[in-house]
Amino acid sequence: MRPAQFDSHTESDQRSHFATAFSLIKYVWIKDRPDLKLRIFFAVLFLLAAEVSLVYSPYILKYLVDYLTENMNSMQAWAFVPIGLILAYGAARLLQQTFGELRDAIFAKVGQNAIRQVALQTFRHLHKLSLRFHLDRQTGGLSRVIERGTKGIDFLLRFMLFNIIPTLLKILFICGIMWVEYGYLMSIVTGVTLVGYIYFTLAVTEWRLKYRRTMNEKDSEANTKAIDSLLNFETVKYFGNEEHESRRFDVAIAGYEKAAIRSQTTLAYLNVGQGFIISLGLVLVMLISVNGVAEGRMTIGDFVAAHAFLMLLIQPLNFLGFVYREIKQSLVDMEKMFELLNVHREIDDQPDAVELLDGDGEIEFSNVDFGYDDARQILHDVSFKVKAGQKVAIVGPSGAGKSTISRILFRFYDVNSGKVTIDGQDIREIKQSSLRGAIGIVPQDTVLFNDTIEYNIGYGRPAASTEEIQEAARMASIDGFIEALPEGFNTNVGERGLKLSGGEKQRVAIARTILKSPRILLFDEATSALDTRTEQDIQESLKEVSRDRTTLVIAHRLSTVVDADEILVLDAGKIIERGQHQQLLEKHGQYAEMWERQQEAANMQEKLLRVQD
Ligand SMILES: Nc1ncnc2c1ncn2[C@@H]1O[C@H](COP(=O)(O)OP(=O)(O)O)[C@@H](O)[C@H]1O
Ligand SMILES: [Mg+2]
Repeated sequence: MRPAQFDSHTESDQRSHFATAFSLIKYVWIKDRPDLKLRIFFAVLFLLAAEVSLVYSPYILKYLVDYLTENMNSMQAWAFVPIGLILAYGAARLLQQTFGELRDAIFAKVGQNAIRQVALQTFRHLHKLSLRFHLDRQTGGLSRVIERGTKGIDFLLRFMLFNIIPTLLKILFICGIMWVEYGYLMSIVTGVTLVGYIYFTLAVTEWRLKYRRTMNEKDSEANTKAIDSLLNFETVKYFGNEEHESRRFDVAIAGYEKAAIRSQTTLAYLNVGQGFIISLGLVLVMLISVNGVAEGRMTIGDFVAAHAFLMLLIQPLNFLGFVYREIKQSLVDMEKMFELLNVHREIDDQPDAVELLDGDGEIEFSNVDFGYDDARQILHDVSFKVKAGQKVAIVGPSGAGKSTISRILFRFYDVNSGKVTIDGQDIREIKQSSLRGAIGIVPQDTVLFNDTIEYNIGYGRPAASTEEIQEAARMASIDGFIEALPEGFNTNVGERGLKLSGGEKQRVAIARTILKSPRILLFDEATSALDTRTEQDIQESLKEVSRDRTTLVIAHRLSTVVDADEILVLDAGKIIERGQHQQLLEKHGQYAEMWERQQEAANMQEKLLRVQD
């Protein structure tokens, strides 16, 4: 068996984080999208422009302060130079913000497009994965993975481009300016302060992550318990266990409380430590500048500007701890989503897969062996043929492997050995879309979409007209029921179709298969949830529909298959008897015995009904 490998995820190392971030590039820089490339180009341009205008403001401040100190006593009101400088200062700030907004606005389309591409690709991929994969998964979990993964991409792109990269640029820029303007000592002090600040923040954040993780665990634990408990609302009441449930819930939220408090107190450590480093840096920078002013190397304007430069750097670093934590989480979420994309497609079209050729729809199973996993074989050497237009029935006890045969014909699974052909073509060599388009299946358990009855019947052929849908409903004997509903065809069927009874769901499923009108029909106990009378009604329609179509019927009630061209009796995955109804009865084997028992039960029921009448 090939296990679907994605929950076995362990904490990935830094290198794979880097690879993940890198793999985003192909969704951002797309080959045949020059418009997006142009956007990226301009976004980067505006990013640089914003940084340059920002770095300008301390300079203007310096000239202003110098002008004011020099002309302190001789200055006239509304002098031209200071007013010009003040306006320039305002303009620099405004420009910085405007460029920043332009950059965001222009990049938005690139980022959102990347998110859409990844989400769509993942969604498509999920529909291509095997039934086996999906049976092993919780669907809610899968959609959470996509949701968090796309959020992660959004966060990562935004913060990489608009926070991390600009901040790094700024650090380089400003350290360079300080070197040139105020000498290497100032530059080194600034650099060391920032590196120290960043290092300290990352280290402490990493250490605090464990509280964060505990918070998340306890949170989902409390959630799971609450949901499970509310889903079992009736059971809780049956046993009067409300207090018991509350205690279990409280244990989980108490754990959350504890971790949340730890997380908040350690945040104080982080903030105090950061404050210490920054203050130390500021003090040193100011000492150096005061010294410079005293020695005449620096003006008072320089003193102010040096301080302003350092403040410019500190501002974006305020959120560093948060950004680091979120980026890390984003990378993990993205990795989970990308791992989904890497899950091997168990059932895949062969590169040279062909369309199913036009034919009459003759089905043949030849020596088919199959098991869902290697440890347990379900089907043993199953061979049979359904000639075009014929009706073949499979009967047998529950668990014999009847539904398994239908899943194999539909190619939800591949056989272990032997082969299945339709009109002589091996189904593994046919495109899945073509194969499945030719087969209409009414499954044993019908699940409906949470939409109207009309939508659910129309699902058989999305292009069908309302009249065709109504005709299909009529053939499936469900028109009477629908007309009796206050909202008729527009009635919502509820989550998974739960507002309909088993029999009503089955008839909706029959109607949509009638609408699909395929060349091969497969009924898997399609009428088992119906009472005998309704079943008889539908049998007529089914006979009508399956006339001239190849039909495979898996039946529970033998009375529905007496007219089959061949009946296969399946037991524990082996065909133990085969033949027409009369022949099988004469054999006095398992089939005859089953028939006997069902006749008795039916007679008994008749008698009971008569007594009641
Ligand atoms: N997805 C699955 N994984 C493992 N075993 C399965 C799976 N589906 C069905 N089985 C097992 O295969 C056997 C045959 O099942 P099925 O074909 O549904 O029987 P039935 O004849 O009642 O339709 C049963 O014993 C069932 O437990
Ligand atoms: Mg079954």
